[in-house]
Formats: sequence, C-alpha cells, structure tokens
Amino acid sequence: MNKILIVGFGNVGQAFFELFHEKRKLLGLEDTAIYEISSTTYGHIKNPSQLTIDQIKAGKLSVERQDATETIRESEADIVCEFTQVNIKDGEPASSHIRTALECGKNVITTNKGPMALHYEELTGLAMKRGVQLKFKGTVMAGTPSFNLLKLLPGAEVQKIRGIFNGTTNFILSEMAKGKSFGECLALAQSMGIAEADSSMDIDGFDSALKAIIFSKVIGWSKHNLGNMEIKGIRGISITDGHCSSVLKLLVSIDKEEASVKPTILSRGDPLASVDGVLNAVEITTDTLGKIISIGPGAGRTATAQAVMTDLMEIVRTN
Ligand SMILES: NC(=O)c1ccc[n+]([C@@H]2O[C@H](COP(=O)([O-])OP(=O)(O)OC[C@H]3O[C@@H](n4cnc5c(N)ncnc54)[C@H](OP(=O)(O)O)[C@@H]3O)[C@@H](O)[C@H]2O)c1
Repeated sequence: MNKILIVGFGNVGQAFFELFHEKRKLLGLEDTAIYEISSTTYGHIKNPSQLTIDQIKAGKLSVERQDATETIRESEADIVCEFTQVNIKDGEPASSHIRTALECGKNVITTNKGPMALHYEELTGLAMKRGVQLKFKGTVMAGTPSFNLLKLLPGAEVQKIRGIFNGTTNFILSEMAKGKSFGECLALAQSMGIAEADSSMDIDGFDSALKAIIFSKVIGWSKHNLGNMEIKGIRGISITDGHCSSVLKLLVSIDKEEASVKPTILSRGDPLASVDGVLNAVEITTDTLGKIISIGPGAGRTATAQAVMTDLMEIVRTN
C-alpha cells in the first residue's frame, strides 16, 4: 500500500484530494491511499480517505494540531505532498517539510516554487542520496506539459526556452491590448479571482522568475538565480501606439548563459503572441526537433491537481 500524507490543505491540497478519489479506480490506484493530512487550519487528520472535504473541514475527526515537520517525521506515509504557501525569501516552511520528508526516506511531491527555485541542488541531491523521488511538475505551468516533455526527448539538447509562465499578467496584458489601462485590467483580474489582492509576485515578475529558474535547473543550466537574472514586471505599464502592430507579453527567456523575465514586444507571427488570457506557454528549442510548443492552463486548482496526479503516477509506477 502506498500511503500519502498531504501537508497544507488549501486550494491545491483540497483539489488533489478530490481528483485523487475521482480518478483512483481509473488509474488503478486502489493500492494507494491518502492516509493523513497535516493542516494548520483543520488539524491533523488520520485516515481521511473515507471522508468528504466538508467532513474534513468540520474538523470533528481531527486530532490536536501538531507541527507539520513532526507529523512528517512520525508518519507511516511513504509519499509526502507539500502544498503550503510560497515564500521567496527562504522557501520556508516548505523547504523544511521537504528536507525532513526526504531525510526520512519518503518520496515528495510539491507544487511550491520556493524550495525548488531556492534549494534545487540541495533537495534533489538529498533525494538521490536517500534513494527517493522528488517531483515538482506543478511548479511550472500546472498540469500542462512543460519541463516534463524533455523526458520524451532522450538525447535532445535544449538550446533555448521562451515562455509565458504567468496567467495573471498575461490576462492583464491581453485586456490592455483592447485599450484599457493597467489599473483597470488589474482590478478586473482581481474581481474575477484571477489576481490575488496582493498580486505583487505576479505583477513584478517574481512568479515567472522562480519558474524560469526551476525550468533551467531541470535542463542543467544551474547558474541562474533571483540575484543574477534580469527581472522586470508589468506594474504601471502602458501599451503605446508603437505596440499596435505587435503584441506585448511578459516573456521568460532562458539559455545556458542568460535568463530574464521582462515585457517583450512580439510580432503577430510569433507563436507566443497568440497565447491570450490566463493561458501559459513554453517554446523549447532543441537541436533535434527545432521548436516545440506547449500551451495550456498554468494555474488553477484542478489544473494543478493534475500535475500532482502526473507526479504521483510516476512515483507509483517506479516504486
Ligand atoms: N493555486 C494554484 O493555482 C497553484 C498553481 C501552481 C502552484 N501553486 C502553489 O501550490 C502551493 C499551494 O497553493 P494553494 O493555491 O493551495 O495555496 P492556498 O490555498 O493559500 O493554501 C496554502 C496552504 O498552506 C498552508 N499554510 C499556510 N501558511 C502556512 C504555514 N506558515 N505553515 C504551514 N502551512 C501553511 C495552509 O494550509 P493548512 O491550513 O492546511 O495548513 C494553506 O491553506 C503554493 O506554494 C502555490 O504557490 C498553486
């Protein structure tokens, strides 16, 4: 039996809980169970597989709250799903959760960009040392294929990556192209639930930058980090007449030597120019195939839960 412990039961945690139970039979996962949940809000819930989200939220079957790190250490689970909030200063508390799980010989799935962008080498090295898997597909473009496409291309050498990695800013720029101001479009995105009340991570380019760092580390371009890459967001930007025959995008651009996130004018013939609204996209240039492109949702509860299912299936198949 594969036993899963979920740490952090917000949007992604709850969506994964629902999707797992919806797809369990279809995927032949009868031998895998969500065994435990560690939540600062709902308590420490044991054996939640038979419960509905509402029952979990009611908290009647939870035991006294316990520090998540302690729960990870004591848990019998062999797969820890880490879904706590992102912190771009030091990745905490997620980094400690992941480190503890790996040290205890548990596989880890995370959707949290902080630990993967800030401590990639340490955490992947620790996973290798302990002979367990660390999966993080949900950190870049949710369930839409992104860096995991590279597994299908053995031997292909990646030369360049261009991407639209943030749906909030892409939505704002797409709306601005219709003649509205930045402020109007940000307010619209917030009223539609596309942007958070504090959307600075998106608007100022840091969300895209973290994803760019993770993508580049997967490729093996290890030098890029928040301190040495160019990061420019779209705060207060205006679309001038000069942009009318072209399209403005918050573009991630990475190669072995340089990485940047910045508003970039694309010609209308550029495949990334037609990626509108909340969609994300990545263009991977390889020596064997030239350019390949993947377009799809880059966030959202179910789209992110799909990424976790993708990671889970890989762990279960190789366990
Ligand atoms: N939502 C998306 O579309 C999406 C897409 C890709 C990646 N992600 C990433 O996935 C992660 C989860 O996202 P989400 O949308 O589920 O966020 P969320 O709804 O805000 O949930 C995050 C959960 O983290 C836990 N938490 C918060 N502060 C904590 C603390 N100090 N210590 C321990 N746990 C804490 C809380 O869960 P408990 O109360 O249960 O402890 C909270 O509900 C984030 O890192 C996010 O960046 C999200």
